[in-house]
Amino acid sequence: MKAVIPAAGLGTRFLPATKSTPKELLPVLNKPVIQYVVEEALEPEGVDGVVIVNSHEKPQIEQYFSVDEAFEEELRGRGKAFQADAVHDAGSLPVSFVYQDEARGLGHAVLCAESETGDEPFFVLLGDYFVPDRQMCVNMAKVSKEHGGASVIAVAPVPADQVSRYGIIAGECVGSLDGKTPEGEESDGAVWKVTGLVEKPQPEDAPSHLFIVGRYLLSPRVMKLLETQGIGAGGEIQLTDAMERLLEDEEMYALVVDPEEGCDTGTPAAWAATNAKMALQDESSRAAFLEALGSKAASQLG
Ligand code: G1P
Repeated sequence: MKAVIPAAGLGTRFLPATKSTPKELLPVLNKPVIQYVVEEALEPEGVDGVVIVNSHEKPQIEQYFSVDEAFEEELRGRGKAFQADAVHDAGSLPVSFVYQDEARGLGHAVLCAESETGDEPFFVLLGDYFVPDRQMCVNMAKVSKEHGGASVIAVAPVPADQVSRYGIIAGECVGSLDGKTPEGEESDGAVWKVTGLVEKPQPEDAPSHLFIVGRYLLSPRVMKLLETQGIGAGGEIQLTDAMERLLEDEEMYALVVDPEEGCDTGTPAAWAATNAKMALQDESSRAAFLEALGSKAASQLG
């Protein structure tokens, strides 16, 4: 089973940095953003490979995920075994590449991976967000198993004035993860049966306040539907629209997650905040980070 990570975008929000460094390779501490997403994608049992949908303009991503024995040897020769291991581990991750050279939307990007996903269900993980050590995809796989292998998406509550930025679901709460009682229908761990999906609705048209956070476990039929999917919101081929069509034939569930558990890297401000959050959580960085920040700024962080 494969996990697909769309990564062909230009990263315009990060220009000029992304003129020569793909957005996906910007670091959070000392690791590129996309490596956190790849590692998250490999957490669920059964995922044996990650397919990155890249553009030919960003060969640096392939270079990062390939083994460079000469470089490793040089590092070892200089006594940097720890760094050599880290370089080796990144290059050895089970990552393959397909290409999307035209920006035709998320649905089109996912369709580019069809030859790799085959007849199996597949995960899609959007790369502007990662959730370290929270087993989000593992939990989605559990919900799918409990419901006969149905598609499952992760969703979270969003204020009404922001629904037009996201895909929004319609449905009803039917239970919870592991049979635990959730605190409310829109709280962490609640499971919904999805009856409709709409991409970037106006607030008055939104069927709920639950938005798709960018983690999907999808039936292979979605690929077939994407082959004939017309243009949707924003003039793009939308994954959400193909999922809406899937509901005519198959069931779909949504797992409510706490978006605060994840790390957003979609804008320079969010990326900087994520670096701060990760530095505070990292034993070897925490003290030096707070010191570098100075006491005034550090006290603002709480
Ligand atoms: C995409 C999806 C949308 C989802 C969002 C999450 O939108 O189309 O349904 O809610 O990601 O970030 P985009 O951010 O690409 O416009």
